[in-house]
Amino acid sequence: MRVSATTTDPPQTAADTVVVGVFEGKDVSHDVSDGALQRLLDTGEAKRSFKSLAVTHEDGKRWVLVGLGDRDRFDAERARVASATALARAAEASSTKTVCWEVPHHVDAAVVGGLVEGAVLGRYRFDQFKSKADDDAGGIEELIVSAHDDVSETVDRAATISRFVNLCRDLQNTPANHMTPTILAEQARQLEGVVVSVEGRDEIVGRGMGAFAAVAQGTEEEPALITITYRGSGSSGDAFPLGLVGKAVTFDSGGISIKPGAKMQEMKFDMSGGAAVIAAMGAIAALELPIDVVAVVGATENLPSGRSVKPGDVVTAMTGTTIEVNNTDAEGRLVLSDCLAHAISLGAERVIDLATLTGAIIIALGSTYSGLVSNDDDWAQTVEEAGRTAGDIVWRLPLHEEYDELITGRYGDISNVVESRKAGSITAAQFLKRFVGDTPWAHLDIAGTAWDSGRAYAAKGGNGVGVRLLVELATKLAR
Ligand code: BES
Ligand code: MN
Ligand code: ZN
Repeated sequence: MRVSATTTDPPQTAADTVVVGVFEGKDVSHDVSDGALQRLLDTGEAKRSFKSLAVTHEDGKRWVLVGLGDRDRFDAERARVASATALARAAEASSTKTVCWEVPHHVDAAVVGGLVEGAVLGRYRFDQFKSKADDDAGGIEELIVSAHDDVSETVDRAATISRFVNLCRDLQNTPANHMTPTILAEQARQLEGVVVSVEGRDEIVGRGMGAFAAVAQGTEEEPALITITYRGSGSSGDAFPLGLVGKAVTFDSGGISIKPGAKMQEMKFDMSGGAAVIAAMGAIAALELPIDVVAVVGATENLPSGRSVKPGDVVTAMTGTTIEVNNTDAEGRLVLSDCLAHAISLGAERVIDLATLTGAIIIALGSTYSGLVSNDDDWAQTVEEAGRTAGDIVWRLPLHEEYDELITGRYGDISNVVESRKAGSITAAQFLKRFVGDTPWAHLDIAGTAWDSGRAYAAKGGNGVGVRLLVELATKLAR
């Protein structure tokens, strides 16, 4: 979808469809020639309550009236939902090709961005493997955002971010036989404005990444340690003020501790953290944010075979910590431990990792909040704020010495699983904490939020969770 901003009034644009929002207690501010839009409200055919829709045809265009509800409650998230809902209605007519959003008066930049994101994300379809596209695919090709002021900067930024969120969704949705670690790495290589290095099994073993290598040893697919650097600050220092780390298990069968069959196909999404990191790096570079960022993505399959890591095996991570692998399905923390240590050794001054790490986080927070665990209050607060601004909301869970004791190993230093299953998401984070030293670290468990979240602008399949948060985080740190 092409996206642009204009100060031209909607009727004078090339749009075939105009979307007009109405707040509770307000009337239509720019009506068609014979006052038909206001009449729809007056007769009750159109309503002002949030998300209600009415359609009419006047002056040679299609008009979609969408209720925006209370002005006081209308924020960026409601803007995303309203925009996705209105465009879904507009797309029902196959003649809709160009839509113009008439931006409501006196809204802030966040709302304008939300209107763009809701439109671009809401119209996303993944039909690469359909021989015939679905009927509801809709052919909206262009969005024009009309406002009295020049909003082009906001609109361009939101359009760029949305494009990369949709790239993340493509990476997530692509089935595991078409999204191997090698293919994921190839996708990272396609990004512009960044430097990408890809290392395989020999290099992973050679670097002493015994935890990552243990997960990768069961599959014939070559694993990939993907490192992406972006230098936007213009200064020549070696350090990176921001390090991103992503879990990219392109298929998680559980390994020898094999998962039950039901819904196992969803485990193609177990690379969602890595996909978000890759897409965010693309967006950060496209936006030319003035900051240096390093990203590390650990990509592998987790499969059972004659070469697989076995329950009880003890492996040595890059930091020298020995790990008892008591459940091969707790593989994400093994991959991440070496990737976190690697990002820090490359000069990351603060890190954030994203991972579909635990089923327990789905029980705790559902599909609404991603879980956040951090060893640093300031960094945690910065991440929380970035999430709120971007609409990728996170909820913090605690660390505690007592949780840490639960991961003590019997034969090795630590175990990758806690037998009691107490506080599963926290003990997974306690495990990761062992590999970051004093570096400010934040961990996002996105197992509940990465797909099928039910939001109007990304209801089904991969939704690119984390991309908007990471771009906002880089933007904040660059200031
Ligand atoms: N990738 C899974 C977590 C997951 C489960 C994500 C369901 C999304 C939906 C992870 O690798 C895993 O299997 N975790 C185990 C850990 C346990 C064995 C300690 C879990 O959560 O059951
Ligand atoms: Mn697993
Ligand atoms: Zn997993």
